[in-house]
Amino acid sequence: MVSSSMEELVSLCKRRGFIFQSNDIYGGVKGLYDYGPMGVELKNNLKSSWWKSMIYERDDIEGLDASILTGREVLKYSGHEDTFSDPLVDCKSCKSRWKSDQLIDKSCPNCKSKDLTDPRPFNLMFKTSIGPVDDGSSFAYLRPETAQQIFTNFKNVLDSTSRVLPFGIAQIGKAFRNEITPRNFIFRVREFEQMELEFFVEPGSDEKWHKYWIESRYHWWIEQGINKNRLELNEVNKNDLSHYSKATVDIMYNFPHGKEELEGIANRTDFDLASHTKNQKDFNISSKVLKNLKSTTKLAIQNLEDKKWFIPYVIEPSAGVERGFLALLNEAYTVDDKNSRIVLALKPHLSPIKAAVIPLKRNNDKLVNQAKNIKNNLQKLGLGRVMLENSGNIGKNYRRHDEIGTPLCITVDFETLEDKSVTIRDRDTMKQQRLSPEQLKNYYQKYFD
Ligand code: GAP
Repeated sequence: MVSSSMEELVSLCKRRGFIFQSNDIYGGVKGLYDYGPMGVELKNNLKSSWWKSMIYERDDIEGLDASILTGREVLKYSGHEDTFSDPLVDCKSCKSRWKSDQLIDKSCPNCKSKDLTDPRPFNLMFKTSIGPVDDGSSFAYLRPETAQQIFTNFKNVLDSTSRVLPFGIAQIGKAFRNEITPRNFIFRVREFEQMELEFFVEPGSDEKWHKYWIESRYHWWIEQGINKNRLELNEVNKNDLSHYSKATVDIMYNFPHGKEELEGIANRTDFDLASHTKNQKDFNISSKVLKNLKSTTKLAIQNLEDKKWFIPYVIEPSAGVERGFLALLNEAYTVDDKNSRIVLALKPHLSPIKAAVIPLKRNNDKLVNQAKNIKNNLQKLGLGRVMLENSGNIGKNYRRHDEIGTPLCITVDFETLEDKSVTIRDRDTMKQQRLSPEQLKNYYQKYFD
């Protein structure tokens, strides 16, 4: 049986060290989660798969890792100070707070009272200050999207790489939003990671590139193991578009709590570069932007033929790491009733542990040393984490590794001490076979390549 309830996923995540409630020894803080030993590996594998597909497997995208703390001007001229808000409603009876679109029949979802305030905009950005003196001039934000620092670094990247259009800048990193009601486990949280690409194109070719990236990103999720029957493309209604977008298509996934956005692909036009550029009046800007007299840098490109400067358009595929993580867990969670086990059938490149090496008898020095050697040799192949599993009962070890998605278990027994052969067990088929050291190396490399 594939696909699961949220309760099953939350329970697996805690039991097997994927995700913990943050600050839980003090009662927990809503909307914040910590990633445990298995969670951090799965998250890193997901991010590295995205990075590979964007940077290493293409020749038109550069990487960036910009600061999280963002000076006020960036988020003022980007339009976030004015528009990055949700409509907040207070319940006067029970004092709870809601996003107005969460109300059911205009009543409080908590106490059902209809005695509510009118909606008012609540800005979702976290504010802070930089440096020892908090006098207003040091005012800053934790970035609400990774994108803005890609735009402010446009000229730095262009000058240091000699790129020509079309080209992209990709970044993975934290973003922060003071969500009014974080919910559905890691689906809507206050601190999360985004995998964002800003792909700069000639004005006029933007619609073609928008289509290209919608297709490309949809197929990428399928390659990660998402069943296309649970994916859907949804064109965002004109009235619901973000302030910077001319058109956005969301990749929707059927999460355990319902169908919601996994990734958004927006046509941001020239809005962002035009917002941040120096000498805005010199350009034919198509979007409505704030007047910016502070920027020191021209964020534009010169046409080689007529020598005129113009502001490129940008297409932005923006995916949430947490939402990807949740979708992949949901896809992989399998109850194998026939064999009374739960299996996390992740694609091998995403599995937190690639192989567990298990001495048949716990604390038997000869078996453990042999297992350590095998572990070290496989680890050196650099295909991901290999684990020495010296915790006893072989059946329990198999069960534990099925649940965390380890594709291969390698058992070291007394025969191994004689001829160095091992038994390898496949997570999905449960089939076992005996392999010599040379065969093991080949099998392992072939499996993950
Ligand atoms: N730069 C564009 C942008 O930030 P967005 O639709 O607001 O667009 C992009 O966010 C992606 O970030 C979403 O598709 C989602 O995967 C993820 N995301 C947004 N808010 C989130 C939250 N509160 N918790 C978890 N993920 C979130």
